Amino acid sequence: MLNGKRILLIVGGGIAAFKALELIRLIRKAGGAVTPVLTQAGQEFVTPLSASALAAEKVYTDLFDLTDEAEMGHIELSRSADLVVVAPATADLIAKMANGHANDLASTLLMATDTPVLMAPAMNVRMWLHPANQRNVATLEADGIACVGPDEGDMACGEFGPGRLAEPEAILDAIIARLGEGPLTGKHVLVTSGPTHEPIDPVRYIANRSSGAQGSAIASALVRLGARVTFVTGPADAPHPQGANIVPVQTADEMLSAVNAALPADAAIFAAAVADWRVESATDSKIKKTKTGKPPALKLSENPDILATVARKRKDRPKLVIGFAAETDDVIANATAKRARKKCDWIVANDVSPETGIMGGTENAVTVIDKDGAESWPRASKTDVARRLASRIADALAK
Ligand code: CTP
Repeated sequence: MLNGKRILLIVGGGIAAFKALELIRLIRKAGGAVTPVLTQAGQEFVTPLSASALAAEKVYTDLFDLTDEAEMGHIELSRSADLVVVAPATADLIAKMANGHANDLASTLLMATDTPVLMAPAMNVRMWLHPANQRNVATLEADGIACVGPDEGDMACGEFGPGRLAEPEAILDAIIARLGEGPLTGKHVLVTSGPTHEPIDPVRYIANRSSGAQGSAIASALVRLGARVTFVTGPADAPHPQGANIVPVQTADEMLSAVNAALPADAAIFAAAVADWRVESATDSKIKKTKTGKPPALKLSENPDILATVARKRKDRPKLVIGFAAETDDVIANATAKRARKKCDWIVANDVSPETGIMGGTENAVTVIDKDGAESWPRASKTDVARRLASRIADALAK
């Protein structure tokens, strides 16, 4: 995937620095090479020896190390990579980058480089939200520096909120999206994901339990294989896939417009749990309780079927159109009928009965149905299901 691409990995000093070691391992496993640079604070959390052992490369730490200058000057080092990755990017490193400091090796490399930079911030939630840090991040984004994360969650300091380093897998996805090549390089793939929200009035809506996890995982897996991915998503809980072009929508109508605008595509995967109905006359003002206590009657009308609209014979029909079938009974029979009705090439069927724990869960058990029959895959993580599906898609598009 990374085929010899070189990453200059700058490791800042934060508790998340230990994850940089896992990132080095993942980059190498994906075929890339890593030159680690540890800041002075970074060395308090990760030793040069462990970074060097995992990278199988020399580690750089000191701007004034004359041996290094004799071997490779800092200017050359800064330009020797295809991508500079800063992980973890601490508040201090971000401030230095935003203000053009060059008083140690890491900041000097970042000032001298002419290669693209990707940063993965990690810090305490209050530090992340501090106006000074937010100003610095905005400056860097305006300068064209890409950012992955931070994630939201429990932090080492005992607080909760945004500031956790993105998972190494997600940082790898972001790297691959910038540098990677694979069997889907040059292909455009459209993915719909998440639930849709159909308004009742300005404060209430009809929704469903889809977390968007399977759709996000599929988009990530496609990015890893080199595809250009347009990810049209309803309001989902799952983190957005790194490296995809994200198009957020609320309603089925908006999703259809976004899908039409994203075409043409080589393949389209409809993983969204689109609400079948919308409230016919959603009001602009909040519906009030009446004195009689009689609840309002909601008249529903059917939403457009986005999958069926794209799958029917039309000029810009993608070569491969894949639907999902969320079923609770007679899964294979219902899904097979759905494939015929919606005229898609494959249907990925899954049992969403509550006892399976699939809807909103981390695992999935699917049966892929195409014109030749049904193929049941063993229950696996949504990430593994996504990777297997992405590789089947790559094979089909190669034919
Ligand atoms: N789908 C869509 N637009 C809709 C409804 C569904 O694009 N308005 C897509 C889904 O993304 C999925 C497939 O159609 O790929 C099947 O969705 P599912 O909810 O299983 O089927 P429904 O069409 O809603 O049929 P039913 O409710 O009868 O099971």
